[in-house]
Amino acid sequence: MSAPVTKQRATHYETPGRILDIRREFPILSRKVQEKPLAYLDNAASTQMPSKVMETITAYHEFHHSNVHRGVHQLSQEASDLYEGAREKVRRFIHARDTRQVIYTSGTTAALNLIAHSWGNSRVGKGDTILVSNMEHHANIVPWYMLAKRTGVQIKVIPILDDGTLDMDAFEAMLDPSVKAVCVNHVSNALGTVNPVRTIAGMCRERGIVSVIDGAQAVGHLKVDVQELDVDFYAFSGHKMHGPTGIGILYGKLPLLNEMEPFLGGGDMILSVSFDNITWNDLPFKFEAGTPPIAQAVGLGAAIDYLNGHDRTFLYDYEQQLLSYANERLAEVPGLTFIGTAPQKAAIVSFVMKDVHPHDIGTILDGEGVAVRTGQHCAEPVMDRYGISSTTRASMAFYNTFEEIDQLRDALLKVTELFDVTD
Ligand code: ALA
Repeated sequence: MSAPVTKQRATHYETPGRILDIRREFPILSRKVQEKPLAYLDNAASTQMPSKVMETITAYHEFHHSNVHRGVHQLSQEASDLYEGAREKVRRFIHARDTRQVIYTSGTTAALNLIAHSWGNSRVGKGDTILVSNMEHHANIVPWYMLAKRTGVQIKVIPILDDGTLDMDAFEAMLDPSVKAVCVNHVSNALGTVNPVRTIAGMCRERGIVSVIDGAQAVGHLKVDVQELDVDFYAFSGHKMHGPTGIGILYGKLPLLNEMEPFLGGGDMILSVSFDNITWNDLPFKFEAGTPPIAQAVGLGAAIDYLNGHDRTFLYDYEQQLLSYANERLAEVPGLTFIGTAPQKAAIVSFVMKDVHPHDIGTILDGEGVAVRTGQHCAEPVMDRYGISSTTRASMAFYNTFEEIDQLRDALLKVTELFDVTD
């Protein structure tokens, strides 16, 4: 039996005062769960919103709400200005050239489904191939399989190495003339791997292949510049970057978006409708049928203002320190094995513990005030790749503290005691 692990606190890391100030901007972080201080380590599932974002959404409802693009009255014009103003904020945030390239969707999943329909339906068929990485979220797998059922296109899987890095040699070897699209995440939600998206997009571009990037786990953490990455499509969600749920963005290159048919039909996506002929609206409205999520778009704009109001390099560096600290402290827990140890990682730590099911771990951690996600993380093929059914995942954001990592480690030690886990 291994020597018991002491519960001593690490003293060499101190949460910076700037982070403690930031925490005060997020009311939910000071609540208790199970009568314990909350350690919210489920940011890959959804991030928390600062007061400023909630206040902006409330003010929108209190003073400006109406439908957009549909009224000459003042409220409709104010709502339209706020909605379009938020689009401009998104454009600047991701450094897109043009607001026509910034399409509101309900989230990353809707954006990827839009591409699979509006681009895929007319662009691929039998004899063509779409490459999907082994570390994709179901949202960047299932729409392509549905497309395959509709069109006969073949889906092939880009393998990953044992540490969770994309196998770039295998990827290059797969890039034959049948390949029409490559679908890869920027950051893996299950492993934390940061993929070399710029290199991948460049390899695609040289061969006339369309690059589709799921940026859901990246935008709230990394600085994303779509022109610098030079990707064809990039999708992300508001609620993973301290904005509300129900809003996401599809960025695309103009020639592609211009040529694509709409996904959903309805109001606002048309210029004229008769029973003989319908003319689509211009970009980006061609892809925004029906009353859009207006308050959510305004909230997303407020989340961008919030992030821009902080030194994002400092926040990123701090998240990397949290990651190193979590790796160090969790390595002390008996019977724990990390899943995903790529050299380039976001602050996501997935692991399994010998003979203890992640759901039991998650339940015990909850009792200690620690919120993590357990299960397949909507990435079942990743679990299959490692021959496991599920993991426990701690995912951090810039408002987390070193003390919360200690709280996680101590809660995990409690699991090892309860289940008598040894190395
Ligand atoms: N995609 C989210 C996650 O990874 C829900 O948890």
